[in-house]
Amino acid sequence: MWRVEKVLRLEHSKAAELWHTAWREAPNSHGTGDPLSKLPTREGWAQPLVLYKNYRLRPRFAATIMHLQNTFEPRHDDIVLATNPKCGTTWIKALAFTITNRFRYEFGNHPLLFRHPQEVVPFLEIPRDGDMTYVETLPSLRLLATHMPLSLFPDSLASCGCRTVYVCRDSKDALVSWWHFDKMVHREHSVDFEAAFNMFSEGFTNYRPFWEHCLEYRRESIACPNRILFLKYEDMMSEPVKYVIRLATFLGVPFSNKEEEDGIPEEVVRLCSFDKLSSLDTNQTGDLIRRGNLIVEKSAFIRKGKVGDWVNHMSQEMGRKLDWIVEEKLKGTGLVL
Ligand code: A3P
Repeated sequence: MWRVEKVLRLEHSKAAELWHTAWREAPNSHGTGDPLSKLPTREGWAQPLVLYKNYRLRPRFAATIMHLQNTFEPRHDDIVLATNPKCGTTWIKALAFTITNRFRYEFGNHPLLFRHPQEVVPFLEIPRDGDMTYVETLPSLRLLATHMPLSLFPDSLASCGCRTVYVCRDSKDALVSWWHFDKMVHREHSVDFEAAFNMFSEGFTNYRPFWEHCLEYRRESIACPNRILFLKYEDMMSEPVKYVIRLATFLGVPFSNKEEEDGIPEEVVRLCSFDKLSSLDTNQTGDLIRRGNLIVEKSAFIRKGKVGDWVNHMSQEMGRKLDWIVEEKLKGTGLVL
């Protein structure tokens, strides 16, 4: 038995070493280190993107995703919060955290009043400070976020049957939100909106093609509704209480009749609302990530929170063009974005 454990530990440390090499060698210079050097790379955004199994990814994320494939050990009660970037990750993190922890914390003295939603739920493939072992230390029931396409899930996670919530959003608003985020993070190296529009429309953006990402989760949510809950940002914005109740039920912690009578779902909606989160100092000041030249401010995740903000950034013609591209890509699938 001890021999097996020793071998497993060795395998684990080898994998960790491999990942650390990839992480070190993957930054802006991209492509010099194994295993990333074998992937096609394209420039355009402030950072080049590699093509990994049909998806465009930052080299760092590709390296981590490869590492997770060999090392991630899911637990049957894990809850995965999956999104395409800028489609409501911050919001769904806040909601799922509040719903699943509602018997631990009072609303008046809640962790979300002092900590950014991005801090209370870790990303699987974006380890803070490069610490890949952090999620292993979390107690069950773990909330884990990811932007990973479903097809890039580690086999262990894909087959473990744990619950996944996916949030998608109108592609035009997602693009506008992404462009603002990119500008805040990359500043003078960021691209202008027209270039961003063209690259997004081609499917050449981090974690994209956008439509493929949504479609993979949509298909699986129809095939296995108990495993994947597919939500749209716009629906959640128009009927937040209804979706909070649905979310709680899916997560296995439904609201009781008494809780509903006492207005607990409404309390959850209020605490996690854009207005509330954006009013908190903890979400407006300071950095979430500071690594070399890379600075990601906390405020970058809570910008405007509006449906249809795209009209302030692109012409009607551009909007129609992107709609048409997405419709064509999704033709015959039943999914409308
Ligand atoms: P906008 O840039 O359109 O304002 P993500 O969390 O996936 O990075 O997505 C960020 C987008 O979600 C931003 O959209 C942000 O303002 C919005 N957002 C953040 N918190 C929100 C909340 N509590 N309710 C609604 N939208 C929210």
